[in-house]
Amino acid sequence: MIEVLVADITTLDVDAIVNAANEQLRGGGGVDGAIHRAAGRELVQASRAKGPIGTGEAVITPGFELRAKYVIHAVGPVWHGGTRGEAGLLEAAYEASFTCARSAGDVRTIAFPAISAGVYGYPSDRAADIAVHAMWRHEGEYERIIACAFDERMAKLYRRAIGPRSER
Ligand code: APR
Repeated sequence: MIEVLVADITTLDVDAIVNAANEQLRGGGGVDGAIHRAAGRELVQASRAKGPIGTGEAVITPGFELRAKYVIHAVGPVWHGGTRGEAGLLEAAYEASFTCARSAGDVRTIAFPAISAGVYGYPSDRAADIAVHAMWRHEGEYERIIACAFDERMAKLYRRAIGPRSER
């Protein structure tokens, strides 16, 4: 079952949190900035050393000062109107995140922000739909999968994408 939470992802007590990163893995604004602030300076070194990566890809680092043991840095697409393969790239970013989580071997609980739905401009409703479908594909592999919304509006879009299954 996908859990929809409204929270600052950096505060969650989970094994891994996913970061909406950029290709350089150098930190930035939005959730990326929040994760870097909370994890401390070591994350800058660790993530930069693994970059650059392509859009749709992901890498894993320790979580350093976070409660989460790992940060999975995934790069979603910039929205260009939907004509540049954005949907496939966003799906790939989720799949790459799950691949990283599996490779760690000890991730039972994982939380995702709404990759690409901020600065990168992906329409939030469509981003929620892609996120939820990716989470459903992997739901059986985890104790908890959290769709972490930063505000109630995004949480509503996740719940709508989940449909009747979210009405508990
Ligand atoms: N916890 C959870 N969600 C958050 C947080 C937070 N602390 N801060 C922001 N968000 C939400 C935003 O509200 C948005 O719904 O994360 C979602 C993704 O927004 P962005 O962080 O802007 O990510 P994205 O659209 O993928 O853009 C990536 O932004 O900061 C840069 O380095 C990053 O260049 C990259 C780009």
